[in-house]
Formats: sequence, structure tokens, C-alpha cells
Amino acid sequence: MDNKMPDTNQRGSFGSNIGFLLSAIGSAVGLGNIWGFPYKMGACGGFTFLLVYLALAVFVGFAIMLGELALGRKTGFGPVNAYKAVSKRFKWVGWLAIIAPFLIMTFYSVLGGYCIYYIVINLVGLFRGVPGSETFGAMLTSPMLQIGVMILFMLICYLINRSGVDGGIEKFNQVGMPALFVMLVIIIIKAWTMPGAGEGLKFMFVPGYAVKGGFIEETPSLLSVLATAGGQMFFSLSLAMGAMITYGSYLDKGENLPKNSVIIVVSDTIVALMAGVAVIPAAVANGIAQGTPVGEIKLNGPGLLFSTLQDVFHNMGAIGGIFGIIFFVLVLIAAISSAISLIEAVSVTFIDRASAKGKEPSRPRTVTLVCAVITLVACLVAADGLGSNGFAPWQFFGMGEDAVKGWNDCWLDFMDVWSEGIAMPLGAMMMAIMIGWELKPSFFHDEIHSGYNGRIDGFWSFCMKYLVPIAMFFILLVQLDSFFGFGWF
Ligand code: PHE
Repeated sequence: MDNKMPDTNQRGSFGSNIGFLLSAIGSAVGLGNIWGFPYKMGACGGFTFLLVYLALAVFVGFAIMLGELALGRKTGFGPVNAYKAVSKRFKWVGWLAIIAPFLIMTFYSVLGGYCIYYIVINLVGLFRGVPGSETFGAMLTSPMLQIGVMILFMLICYLINRSGVDGGIEKFNQVGMPALFVMLVIIIIKAWTMPGAGEGLKFMFVPGYAVKGGFIEETPSLLSVLATAGGQMFFSLSLAMGAMITYGSYLDKGENLPKNSVIIVVSDTIVALMAGVAVIPAAVANGIAQGTPVGEIKLNGPGLLFSTLQDVFHNMGAIGGIFGIIFFVLVLIAAISSAISLIEAVSVTFIDRASAKGKEPSRPRTVTLVCAVITLVACLVAADGLGSNGFAPWQFFGMGEDAVKGWNDCWLDFMDVWSEGIAMPLGAMMMAIMIGWELKPSFFHDEIHSGYNGRIDGFWSFCMKYLVPIAMFFILLVQLDSFFGFGWF
């Protein structure tokens, strides 16, 4: 192991375990929970999907989470230096864990910007009438507007990261996470009192109801249910992005890693379910009231939030503005708390590198640089407006319209394919192989048992050696298939 100690002053650390937990939950709870989980759960079998998801979360998600926290805390470094410190053969995997969060940030920041814009339009709507779904198209075709709000979003994250771990990240999450929870409860209560909301709940929970109720056309295959649940679990828990390694490296040696991992996984799933029972019933009830055939109600992706739900607020009349504000503030908090963990994972690498070279690292300077580069690349994604403005990747690379696939239809998806599609599953698979077969799980024995003295070794070792590599290989194939449309699944 590299025995140069990181510069703890510029790195920082969490002030308390609850602060750490709220920050890690904040990282996990993000756009993935709000627009990914609910739809996928409904479309892929309702309650059955939930069971599959939970099984994957326990055997794969929990195992990787514990591995990342242990790797971070044991080495005291962010991803790049952590891998370097433990393995020569796998040190390149650390780079995947910073390229991926960088790329994710180039579009996460754009979506975060959309939330800011939607807070503003709902606020203005209180006085001038709340706008509906037409806002979405208008915004997408306005590059300057999208760049502007993206920069604003980046500025907020920048100020938080710049203030350090306990002074910025932890403080934000200690206020933000409880606030998000309360707002979610308010939205759930409102949604459940809308006539027709029950149909939305049935869509989410009753196995097979998505097809029976006319929401989707055919029942997905078991294989694609497994794959969808796996991909969702993975992104939603912020795994293989360096985020959990980084947060682990700020954690006190006395804290209980297995217990913390369980709490993060369980909380993330609860918030995903809560988000689902808030947004799906509202979207469905409103769609039915407007006479939209259920199969045509948009329940997935950015359209769910920025078009379908905005219509819900529009149709509530003046009061809709208030719920619109509450809702988009909630989504904005979720987006910021995830984004700051991504920015931190990239920044810590440079802070650690400077101290390893014996130089004095500067957090403000590093965070400024990282945020500036992200913002620059994000301008492309923002101006593209989800492919609305004539220079989507397929047009940019001079491809024909029939060549449009998931990876090239817009710059957001282009960034997503390299990060979520390739770097994340590949990185997690490699980490499991490194821990399971090169280092051997016993390498982390002391780390995992510092703060915990129960049983876990046999289970964790089995997951790391066999289940995680196999599951991640499968998820990697599915991600490639979905982005490039090979038709394997
Ligand atoms: N977990 C976040 C979400 O659900 C996304 C994310 C991935 C954040 C990886 C940090 C690291 O939206």
C-alpha cells in the first residue's frame, strides 16, 4: 500500500455518521429514483419487479456498496488513488470511476437546470397562470435558456463542493434530505386525493396490470425484467462511480460499514417507491381526466417530469403552481445531492494526487477547475435540447435518419452510453474480480470489522467472487444492447 498519507485538511471528513448517511443517501436518491424506478416497476411486473429488484440490491448492490466504502476507507483515497494503492493490475479501473462521473455530470447538470427553470415558471405561474406541457418543447428549442439554467445549477453545486465535506456536502444533505422527505409526503397526499389515482397505484403494484390496464402493449420477458432491474439498481445506488469510494474515504474508522450499507440501500429503495406513488398516480389520474388513452400517458424519462407532470400542475389551476414549486424543489434537491457526490469523486482525485506528489492541494482551485470543465462540455448537451436543435450526434456524425439509435439520438444519451452504459458496469465487474480473485475478500476483513463484529465474510465473499461479476457482465451486455439496439434481449 502507498503509505503517503492524504492531506486531510483539504480532503476533509464527515462530522458525524448521520451526516455521512444523509450524504450517501443523497447521492443515491436522484433523478433515477424519480423517473426511472416507478415506470420500470410498473412496466416490468409491479410487485414481482420489486422482489427481483430487492434480491439484486441485497446480493449485488449491497455487496458492491460495502466493497466501495471499505476500499475508500481502507486506503483513505478517492477512486484513482484507492485502486492504485491496492492493485497494480487493476489501477486503470480507478480512472473509469472518474471518467464516468464526469460524463454523467455533463447531462445531470442540464437536467438539474431544467428543475430550476420549472421552479421559476411555476412561481411566475402563481400570478400569470400555470403553464402546461407545451413549456417542455419551448424550452428544448431554446439553447441559451438551457445553457443559462445549467450554469446556475453548476454554480450551486460548485459553492457546496467548494465549502468542503462537512462544511458543504454534509450541511446541504442534513437539511436537504429531511426537506425532500417532507415534500414528497405532501405530493403523495395530494396525488392520492385525485380521482383516478388508484389506476396509477395498480399500474405500479399489481403484477401484469400495466398490460391488462392498457398502459403497455406486451409483457416483458423474464430476462429483460432482470436486466432492467439490475441496471436500475446499479445507477440508483450510485455504484461504480467513485462516489461511494470517495464518501467512504471521509468516514471515521469507528463507523459500521455493513450497517451503513444496508441503510443506504433500504432508504434509496423506499424513496424510489415513495416517488413512484407520488408521480405515477398523479400522472395517470390527470391523463384519465383529460381523456388521454392510458397507453399514451407519458410515464417515463424526462417527459414524465417536465411534460406530463407539468400538465398535472397546469390542470390544478392557480394552486397547481404551489405544488409545482414544491415538486421541482424536491427534484432539484435530489439532483444537487447526487451531483455534488459526482463532482466530489472527480475533485478528490486531483486533491489526492497533489498531496501524493508532496504538493499543497487546494480544494477551491480544484473544484473550480472540475466544475468549469464539466460546465463547458455540458453546454453541448444543453444546447442540443435532447436532440431538438439539429446537431444531435447522428446529424453531427453525418449518419442517416435510419441509423438513429439510443446512443446517437441526442448528446445526453451519447454521454450516458459511455458512463452508465459501459464504464459503470465494466468498473463494477472489474472491482469484484479484483476483490474476489486478486486481493481476496479477506484483504478487507479488518476494514469491514472495524466498527462491526457480526458475521458477513462468507456472504460477502460469495457475492464478490461469483454473483457480482456474473450479474455485472450480464448488465453490461444489456446496457450495450439497449444503447446500440443489437436486439440480443
Ligand atoms: N443515484 C443517482 C440517481 O439515482 C445517480 C448517481 C449515479 C449519482 C452515480 C451519483 C453517482 O439519480
